[in-house]
Order: sequence, then structure tokens, then C-alpha cells
Amino acid sequence: MMKIFLFLLPLLITFSHLSPAAGATKLGTEKLSHFRFYWHDIISGPNPTCVNILPPAATNKTVPTGFGMVNMIDDPLTEKPESGSKLLGRAQGFYGVASQEEVGLLMAMNFVFLTGKYNGSTLTVLGRNPVFHKVREMPVIGGSGLFRFARGYVEASTHSFDIKTGDAVVEYNVHVLHY
Ligand SMILES: *[C@@H]1O[C@H](CO)[C@@H](O)[C@H](O)[C@H]1NC(C)=O
Ligand SMILES: *[C@@H]1O[C@H](CO)[C@@H](O)[C@H](O)[C@H]1NC(C)=O
Repeated sequence: MMKIFLFLLPLLITFSHLSPAAGATKLGTEKLSHFRFYWHDIISGPNPTCVNILPPAATNKTVPTGFGMVNMIDDPLTEKPESGSKLLGRAQGFYGVASQEEVGLLMAMNFVFLTGKYNGSTLTVLGRNPVFHKVREMPVIGGSGLFRFARGYVEASTHSFDIKTGDAVVEYNVHVLHY
């Protein structure tokens, strides 16, 4: 133990002499927040919030999952599952079918919040979403504004899915550590 300390001592002294150019910032107390909202992926109708930008891979005869397809989204996030419910923010990004075995999406999206103290703050989700599983967990890999240094996870579960139109409402439970 002592040996390790003696080895580190010169390093510690070196670093204590470095003065950060912009000064040191003290972080507040880290807290764990939980948010629940509903994500509306609307493909049908005159105002879709989800548009296809890449078709399925040309191999789609043998890969029925739609492997390779990519959609861009600007989906409303609301307080309740109904479409007229209070808008809390938007999910902007894209998802693609990244699995040949099942409908497993790669999701890359930013939640941008539009109300209250979180107005303008964002959280970034990047993860795997096998849409026909009951609960899908995806990492929150960062954030901005009040969510600087954020990390955590979301749990997504489908509230409703219209097989004819492809429109979906998904409940998101977000658990995030931030300052
Ligand atoms: C793949 O599927 C799309 C839409 O379902 C279809 O338009 C296209 O012709 C298919 N491609 C091949 C190579 O089968
Ligand atoms: C959120 O912030 C934007 C830009 O600062 C502002 O225009 C808007 O009124 C704010 N919305 C709410 C609900 O506070």
C-alpha cells in the first residue's frame, strides 16, 4: 500500500501544480431523477413525425425484419398516452433495423425538453430496442443543460401499436443520474 502511495506521490504533486486554465468548477450533489412520458411515433396522416430515409437492405427477400431500414424522427413526448396530452418535449434522432433475427432497432436520439426548469436541456439515448419485447432497456449516455454529465437508462414499453399504419405510442421511464 505504502509503496503504491510513494509511487503516486510525484504524480499527485505534479498534478497539484497544474492550474486549470478556466478554473475549477465544483459539481453539486449528484441526484437520481425519474421521468415518465409517452413517445409518439407517427408515420401515417398528413403530419408524420417519423419519415423513412433509407429503405430496407436489398436482401430483404431473405431478411423479413426490414434489416437496414432507417427512419428519422421528431417525435412528441407527452405527459399522458393520448395524442392531445401536454407536450413535454421531443425525441429527435433516428432508428434503424440492426437485427436480422428479429425487429431489433438501433436507436440514436436526443430528448429535448420544452417545459419547466428542464426547458432546453437534453438527454441522449443510444441503445438496442427489440420492439416486440415487453420492456426494452437502453442507456442514457449523456446530456446537456441541467443534464450535464448525465448517465442512466430508459425502459421503453409499447403502450399501443397500430399494425395497419405502423403508428406507435411507447411509454418511456427514464432513470438518470445528474447534478
Ligand atoms: C424490399 O422491400 C421493399 C419494401 O417492402 C420493396 O419495395 C423492395 O422491392 C424490396 N427489395 C427486394 C430486393 O426485394
Ligand atoms: C422554453 O424556452 C424557449 C427558449 O428559451 C422559450 O421560447 C419558451 O417560451 C420556453 N417554454 C416554456 C414552456 O417555458
